[in-house]
Amino acid sequence: MNDVLIESLIRAVQAAPEDAALRLHLAQLLAGAQRHPEALAHINTVIQQDPGNAAALGLLAEVTSALIGGPVQVPAQAPVQAPQEQQQEPAKEDYDWQAGDAQFSDPIPAPFVEQRIEMGEESAAIEPPVEPAGEPITLADVGGLQNVKDRLTESFLAPMRNAAIAKAFGKSLRGGLLLYGPPGCGKTFVARAVAGELQANFMAVTMTDILDSYIGNTEKNLKAVFDKARENAPTVLFFDEVDAVGLRRGSLSGSASWLRQMVNQLLMEMDSLTSNNDGLYILAATNHPWDLDEALLRPGRLDRSVLVTPPDAEARESILRHHLERRPIAGIDLGWIIERTEGFSGADLEHLSTTAAEKAMMQSIAANEVIPVGMEHVQQALKDVKPSTLPWLESARNVVRFSNENGRYDDLAQYLSSRKML
Ligand SMILES: Nc1ncnc2c1ncn2[C@@H]1O[C@H](COP(=O)(O)OP(=O)(O)OP(=O)(O)O)[C@@H](O)[C@H]1O
Ligand SMILES: [Mg+2]
Repeated sequence: MNDVLIESLIRAVQAAPEDAALRLHLAQLLAGAQRHPEALAHINTVIQQDPGNAAALGLLAEVTSALIGGPVQVPAQAPVQAPQEQQQEPAKEDYDWQAGDAQFSDPIPAPFVEQRIEMGEESAAIEPPVEPAGEPITLADVGGLQNVKDRLTESFLAPMRNAAIAKAFGKSLRGGLLLYGPPGCGKTFVARAVAGELQANFMAVTMTDILDSYIGNTEKNLKAVFDKARENAPTVLFFDEVDAVGLRRGSLSGSASWLRQMVNQLLMEMDSLTSNNDGLYILAATNHPWDLDEALLRPGRLDRSVLVTPPDAEARESILRHHLERRPIAGIDLGWIIERTEGFSGADLEHLSTTAAEKAMMQSIAANEVIPVGMEHVQQALKDVKPSTLPWLESARNVVRFSNENGRYDDLAQYLSSRKML
């Protein structure tokens, strides 16, 4: 019975939406029929039209208290807020939180996927920094390593410096130089020195900076790097950790096809069929030359390689001097240290120097006076710091034994023999 009445009142309210009394009557009937949310909506409309409507406010208190299960204080005067806000506030009460809780209590699967999706966004190409040729380091700054310097000069520097003579003798000026050797032994340092020798700008690019899972970006990055290097020629463009990309293409699985594509693009840029690569010197460094894609090592590409050996005695002296001379030292016998640090890399020697300095510092703090770095600190440090090049040389030995048919690793073989490791 009431429902029929309610339905006809709803129609009447629709016909006369401004009639507050009619609407309130409907609200009252709806509340009586336990249809509180609908009642509330009508009460709100009345309050919006007439904020001071006492009947509406009274009914509002009744309905909201029924909705949340307790009496509610309603201000005698309706709050003077913007009508929309007033409408939103009771609408919140309108929401059945318990039902909401129940609805969401069931576990909803997390919106994450387990498998990686290869995707990315197209972005602007990277801006590789160019180091200007001013105040360069040269081979004179590289301590010792006379063999390495001779090899560099003969295979790369001399032909580049004397282009006309080199051409007359049929020596190709195309192609780049691969520096390889154990970690921390100065490959990056030597690459900078080569740039200095050629009075060229230096641009160091780490392969992982160029790689982008979005294929278009990787190509764009590589192109930007080569374009910038050509713009600033003469430039030594140095690809550090080239093994990150120069992996054998055959060994790359299907998912790494974009990496393969990058090797192709790198080869294309190096082959200079489409661009003028004059004054562009390509250098690359790796700890794992045997993992490089053969195609990268073909004539006209990284076709010359030089082993950057662990520092010899002279190099160790220069590195130790460099790291110790700016610290408070006393009675340091460099000769003694040099004799005991065969197989230490440049990075190991730096670590040894800082460890010795730390020991002296801790002693100084305990004694409350400056105790300079002395031989006892170096001796203690030598117990902690071990040479890191041996594992690399061990694994390199197998390469020389089993896969040096083309003589690519002759200088490595020579070095290993000199260390009686072959
Ligand atoms: N012959 C040397 N003369 C002077 N400093 C050297 C020499 N060899 C290495 N160093 C120093 O040793 C440190 C490590 O060298 P660098 O970073 O060039 O090694 P790397 O072979 O590029 O190492 P990584 O494999 O980790 O990239 C640098 O501080 C470098 O200046
Ligand atoms: Mg390096």
